[in-house]
Amino acid sequence: MTSPAVSVQDLYFSWHQDKPILKSCSLTVPQGEFWMLLGANGSGKSTLLKLLAGLLVPQSGVIEVKPPVGFVFQNPDHQLVMPTVGADVAFGLVEENLSAIAVIARVREALDAMNLLDFQRRPIYALSGGQKQRIAIAGAIARRCEVLILDEPTALLDPDAQIELVVQVQNLVKSRGIAALWVTHRLDELDYCDGALLLENGCVVDRGEPLRLKQRLMRED
Ligand SMILES: Nc1ncnc2c1ncn2[C@@H]1O[C@H](COP(=O)(O)OP(=O)(O)OP(=O)(O)O)[C@@H](O)[C@H]1O
Ligand SMILES: [Mg+2]
Repeated sequence: MTSPAVSVQDLYFSWHQDKPILKSCSLTVPQGEFWMLLGANGSGKSTLLKLLAGLLVPQSGVIEVKPPVGFVFQNPDHQLVMPTVGADVAFGLVEENLSAIAVIARVREALDAMNLLDFQRRPIYALSGGQKQRIAIAGAIARRCEVLILDEPTALLDPDAQIELVVQVQNLVKSRGIAALWVTHRLDELDYCDGALLLENGCVVDRGEPLRLKQRLMRED
């Protein structure tokens, strides 16, 4: 059996000493699968993703995530920094010290994977929210990310763009054999993933079949 792409054991994290946000939190995301993370507002989903991405350090526990990791924010305007699509995707490759030819090839490959090749020279300000999210994901693909972490990537999208994005990530995971962990409050998105996790009182209280978790949460609403 291959080791999971994401593995968390007994994680403990608190912003303030007296009130832990995550306690005895454990989860795995298998390689090559698309999983979703559910939980009420303030339950610690975004905090957990930041820990997985190495943006925060836990008080205790073990986190293993297959590198490189790509992170997609809820609001793409907080993520895209360059004036054009191609420049933004290339910007993420700066640290890798690749040749100019290799950068061009990586950018093309990533834009192609997200059906954005025709957008390479477009200014970012002129794009829709859904297109911007696809560019953020293309940036992660260009970096050859093994794990894609997405924090409510569809929260600002209309229903058509929402479904288009979730289907694209589903296809990406399958075609490239990567893993994705996607946070959402929108239960209809559960139709597209391989498994789901429910975060409650600081730990994962349920995991497994997405449609079962969907029904559980619809009953609780
Ligand atoms: N930078 C911070 N400093 C202090 N407390 C924080 C910080 N960020 C989040 N928190 C607190 O940690 C708890 C968990 O927040 P988090 O954003 O992880 O929840 P969430 O599950 O992502 O919620 P939502 O569904 O609203 O996005 C909340 O009580 C929040 O107020
Ligand atoms: Mg959040």
